[in-house]
Amino acid sequence: MLRQPLLMLARSSQVKDLVTRMPVSSGLVARYVPGERTSDAVEATRDLVVDGRLATLDFLGEDTLDESRAEATVDAYLELLDALSREGLARSAEVSVKLSAIGQALPEIGPKLSLENARRICGAARNVGTTVTLDMEDHTTTDETLATLRELRKDFPETGAVLQAYLHRTEEDCRALAYEGSRVRLCKGAYSEPDTVAFQDRHEVDRAYVRCLKVLMAGHGYPMVATHDPRMIRIAGAFATRFDRAPGTYEYQMLFGIRTDEQKRLAGSGERMRVYVPYGQEWYGYLMRRLAERPSNLTFFMRSLLSQK
Ligand code: FDA
Repeated sequence: MLRQPLLMLARSSQVKDLVTRMPVSSGLVARYVPGERTSDAVEATRDLVVDGRLATLDFLGEDTLDESRAEATVDAYLELLDALSREGLARSAEVSVKLSAIGQALPEIGPKLSLENARRICGAARNVGTTVTLDMEDHTTTDETLATLRELRKDFPETGAVLQAYLHRTEEDCRALAYEGSRVRLCKGAYSEPDTVAFQDRHEVDRAYVRCLKVLMAGHGYPMVATHDPRMIRIAGAFATRFDRAPGTYEYQMLFGIRTDEQKRLAGSGERMRVYVPYGQEWYGYLMRRLAERPSNLTFFMRSLLSQK
């Protein structure tokens, strides 16, 4: 019930100004975001690697309408990739990129600019021995993002895609992307979407997730099972057995700070387990989407806000 209003607030600049006065170290933010600096992201990666987990790092930011900000985001990724390489962590950590953070939404030049920027990040990632995955944002960007993915994959076939099971179109997109070498992260979907394009009922979304997962696990690509849902994780395991997939031909993914014990359990049982680590100052939209998934965090959130001076 609270999901839609919270997702609307995720795009309100007034609430954003109020909320972002909270320090990143305050309880709730720190649960989901390890810090604001490159060194925080590297530190978090090192902690994951110690117990056999992998990372995908997201320099936070989205919906940029400013070319210099898009450029600064590219620079942040280049700095991060360099730091990971220097620390010997580049093979255990890839990066996740939102095209809207690197210019996709800029009028007229957006698609071309974000493609060029993504190419630079993909080139730097390849140079240090790792990969890039393009995050998926709201449904108005899906076609454009998949078009950019197709272009990028001509030079960087290792580039990963994200598909959101809540969209009606996604089962078809899974079929189109289940080819050899194609890395596809399947998530349920985190944005507020109309019923013309997306399932609204939680059970319907779960059923769609299972249908999509089946297509990906039965296919020839590399599925990345991004969910914290115990049922979906069990079903992914059953599909792996049914379609004769050895560990290492697919992976599980979860968000930093969510179901950490389960992350460790999966990694300890020999599965590939990758954790999505967001870092940076622009944590507002990300935090609001996490709150929308877990409204029970709301009381804690309100208390953190009210305790600000
Ligand atoms: P569901 O929401 O049903 O949660 C299952 C269980 O997980 C809950 O019962 C609870 O135990 C736990 N849980 C879930 N969310 C929690 C939270 N915020 N706090 C505490 N516990 C929580 N979305 C998108 O639209 N585009 C994208 O590019 C990505 N990328 C992405 C990468 C990775 C690695 C992950 C794991 C997820 C994404 N997402 C995403 C987010 C995704 O779409 C979805 O919103 C969340 O993963 C929550 O859905 P679950 O599948 O976990 O199920």
